[in-house]
Amino acid sequence: MTVPAPAQGVFISFEGVDGVGKTTQLQRLSRTLDRLGYRVVVTREPGATPLGAALRELLLDPERAISDRTEALLYAADRADHVETVIRPALHQGSVVLTDRYIDSSVAYQGAGRGLGAAVRRLSAWATDGLIPQVTILLDADPAALAERLRVARGTLDRMESERLDFHRRVRAEFLSLARAEPTRFVVLDALTDEETLARQISSAVAPYLPGGFPFGGGGLR
Ligand code: TMP
Repeated sequence: MTVPAPAQGVFISFEGVDGVGKTTQLQRLSRTLDRLGYRVVVTREPGATPLGAALRELLLDPERAISDRTEALLYAADRADHVETVIRPALHQGSVVLTDRYIDSSVAYQGAGRGLGAAVRRLSAWATDGLIPQVTILLDADPAALAERLRVARGTLDRMESERLDFHRRVRAEFLSLARAEPTRFVVLDALTDEETLARQISSAVAPYLPGGFPFGGGGLR
């Protein structure tokens, strides 16, 4: 069973394979909404809470071997803590919550990437008590096109980033298939579009969900 996010706040997630530019776009949207007077909470998974930060370190340590089921449980534990202590309280206060990754990342990375299947979604649904975003921005690109960008940007790759290309391709394919299954929640955008254009596309996509309807005039957000 899924429970829609409370009406007071707006819950928006950003998803995509590693290196796709989610974080940059999320920060841009946050600044735009901030300027327009919205109360914005920017958060991420894994690692938004003190417990989550410890889990993130374990999960991304390239030296650590973690079994697939353990990995799925640790991401779900991070999410449970995140929802309980950050997301739900912020939504109750009427904030616009922008999260860098959420439940779809588990379905794509652990469900499809690791091959754990549908149990992963059930686990996350339980961990979050069914909270799902109103809008999910999926930035899409072929992982092969992002590999070099990722290496340059990060220097060293973490445990997930260092997975093989076919793993990341399974993740991408699953994100796209999730978007096809829920076309009203997902907005799929080409991550290789220039940064300015992409920012405008994202602003226009989220505008109808903001309190006050579409308060930005015909041109949409900047
Ligand atoms: P980040 O680099 O976007 O902060 O995400 C950290 C890594 O964790 C990234 O490679 C995706 C991965 N991940 C999962 O495998 N499952 C999940 O549920 C989440 C939230 C992230």
